[in-house]
Amino acid sequence: MLAGHWHPVALAAAVCDQPVAARLLDQDLVLYRTAHGVTAAADLCAHRGAPLSLGKIRGGRVICAYHGYCYDAAGRCVEVPAHPAAPIPGKLHLRVFRSIERYGLIWVNLAAESGREISPFPEYDNDGYQKIVVPPLDWAASAGRQIESFCDVAHFAFVHEKTFAVRDPVVPRYHVEATPWGVFSDFTSHAGNVSDPNAAAETWRRVYRVHVPFTAHLVIHFPSGGKMALLNASCPVSARRTRVFPVVARDFGHDEPVADVIAFQQRIYAEDQAIVERQNPEDLPLDLGEEVHVRADLTSVTYRRQLAALGLGRGFTA
Ligand code: FES
Ligand code: FE
Repeated sequence: MLAGHWHPVALAAAVCDQPVAARLLDQDLVLYRTAHGVTAAADLCAHRGAPLSLGKIRGGRVICAYHGYCYDAAGRCVEVPAHPAAPIPGKLHLRVFRSIERYGLIWVNLAAESGREISPFPEYDNDGYQKIVVPPLDWAASAGRQIESFCDVAHFAFVHEKTFAVRDPVVPRYHVEATPWGVFSDFTSHAGNVSDPNAAAETWRRVYRVHVPFTAHLVIHFPSGGKMALLNASCPVSARRTRVFPVVARDFGHDEPVADVIAFQQRIYAEDQAIVERQNPEDLPLDLGEEVHVRADLTSVTYRRQLAALGLGRGFTA
């Protein structure tokens, strides 16, 4: 079921002059760049099954490290060095998947049919916003648990107490709705200034758009008027392994060192990771009777319902 969706698998900038290994839903992939863009294929040479990610790229082709067979951008074998003049068997063809480059990431869809669109990220195409692609983060957790933690509005005062936490744990009533693409939630809270506990309470607004299954777009409206959008695109590497690709776009602070922005995001994510990797059960329970929900959890409850509506959590037979 998940194979029919677009998932991020690598930073676009990381796929340049060498083949790159990635994994999506337990499928090992090789990514390689040619004049036609990035090709994503099963990481398996059609000759003897060596991983092509061990090979190299020359002249717009990926060359297998074992016997040097060359494959073009379409995954077709175009050269067998041992027999340069002999016809090439048609079966010497890589299993190629659909891939697309967007928001500084490579996205792959393992299924042949079209599937849902990738989450919009309008700030990424807005020249007024600075874009910062954070290096991917590897979590030993399911993608559903990770996305749920990203959209949770009741954990700030506890998990992020040392970074940006507001000390007031009360969650005001907020708006959540199910949409054709996932979940929309609009959360406004009033909190003291983190750096100055005596300052008057300020208004923070966070607008979440979760694109099921595993991408979430958050816009934080800071009390100062600045806006920061954060795309949290999560790759379900395996059932309990997630590679998170955070991409920041913001319309303020453009002279702040990029390394500082990245370090701050890494710190926040690490705080969430310490909890989420220890949650049980590891899979996000889609049966709402399995865990307890309060009003603050409305985003999470809606997200779980939307995943169930996609077909997750149901038994499938081939
Ligand atoms: Fe790749 Fe032989 S296994 S060329
Ligand atoms: Fe968090």
